[in-house]
Amino acid sequence: MTKAARAKSIYACTECGATATKWQGQCPGCAQWNTMVEAIAEPAARSRHAGVAGASALTPLARIAAREAPRMESGVAELDRALGGGFVSGQVALIGGDPGIGKSTVLLQSLAAMSAARSTLYVTGEESVEQVALRAQRLGVETAAVNLLAETQLERVRAALEREKPEVAVIDSIHTLFSDVLASAPGSVAQVRECAAQLTRLAKAQGTTLVLVGHVTKEGALAGPRVLEHIVDTVLYFEGDPNSSFRLIRAFKNRFGPVNEIGVFAMTEKGLRGVTNPSALFLSHHREAVPGSCIMVTNEGTRPLLVEIQALVDDAHGQTPRRLALGVEQNRLAMLLAALHRHAGVACYDQDVFVNAVGGVRIAEPAADLPVLLAIVSSLRGRPLGEKLVAFGEVGLAGEVRPAPRGQERLREAAKLGFTRALIPKANAPRHAIEGIEIVAVERLADAIAVLR
Ligand code: TYD
Ligand code: MG
Repeated sequence: MTKAARAKSIYACTECGATATKWQGQCPGCAQWNTMVEAIAEPAARSRHAGVAGASALTPLARIAAREAPRMESGVAELDRALGGGFVSGQVALIGGDPGIGKSTVLLQSLAAMSAARSTLYVTGEESVEQVALRAQRLGVETAAVNLLAETQLERVRAALEREKPEVAVIDSIHTLFSDVLASAPGSVAQVRECAAQLTRLAKAQGTTLVLVGHVTKEGALAGPRVLEHIVDTVLYFEGDPNSSFRLIRAFKNRFGPVNEIGVFAMTEKGLRGVTNPSALFLSHHREAVPGSCIMVTNEGTRPLLVEIQALVDDAHGQTPRRLALGVEQNRLAMLLAALHRHAGVACYDQDVFVNAVGGVRIAEPAADLPVLLAIVSSLRGRPLGEKLVAFGEVGLAGEVRPAPRGQERLREAAKLGFTRALIPKANAPRHAIEGIEIVAVERLADAIAVLR
């Protein structure tokens, strides 16, 4: 960047866009607190709003030839699945997740596989080139053709990208990059946003597929920048229980494919391995049916998944009984217990209730309601639900059992895995029998509990 073109930094409000030359705690525009972040002051181009003479030409939508963008396989099948079939040229993807979850590992595996046919660049800001080489060695992948760059300064990373024009580049991580123009520390909202925006523009301009690694948890808690999500085409989250070896990559936003598609991996000593039959993962293999366990069929993207929901109901000793949910929504638990009492006559007010989804999986959909309640009733009564039973269904406050999307696929997956009985919402009952599985369709929560006796 030449001296003349060197931009000045200003402070802009993330809420209303008001600017100031100095940092202020309160925005002078909208009076919000702590919304002023550093930004680069763009010298307003004079021609920019010079009049209608320069207005862009319009194109009727029907005249635009729409083509499916050709896919580039990432070399990691489960990653392809999460991406909706692979990368697209010029795509900018953010992959977020807790430290140590396996982001660098999966991307190195992918780059190594892609480097056989494409030019690749791995920019490491967190680890030295030796550390990356060591990991590659450990993974046992062919990395001879992967170009490495240990750099954290944005302008130099840009220069390398412009010079090499790789087809695929990984920035590990966006939080370590910084631009000289901004005074903020690397990893700050201002730096992360500016670096991501500049790299995105560059990637689009030269057709490089860019993968940004971010330390962003789904809650956006760490390092804050949910801001990144708006800049990039695709947001993937890497999830998993640090205590188990299973990892999920979930598409959260995808301009080139479906969202909520997941890739399932197991972390091994030789890196991440794709898991082809994930349903087997999330079931704890009891020798016989035990109380407090209910197998649910959840739906992840286009793939049904069997997950075991466990509940433990025990006499409460404290003033207020405890309600704790892991992997399913905590807030729904109290609501479900109220519905259970009111509409099925099962009281838990003097009981502690703990609910857990086995295998560290997180289930966000309300179809977990019925399985959660069945597991709770089973634990409360000390009676197993019966072997080979699956369930799903949302429970409403009026005590009704509501249908879940893609009921047929769920039932077929359950039948495929040897389950013989399904307790499901009436509206999900299939018109034609599914071989090997008996359907018990209920309309009300009370009916579902009555089935258990
Ligand atoms: P890493 O990819 O460095 O995580 P991130 O980039 O998301 O911070 O993964 C680090 C963890 O993975 C580390 O705890 C060790 C483990 N691991 C394995 O179990 N096997 C392997 O082959 C590799 C490379 C890492
Ligand atoms: Mg890493």
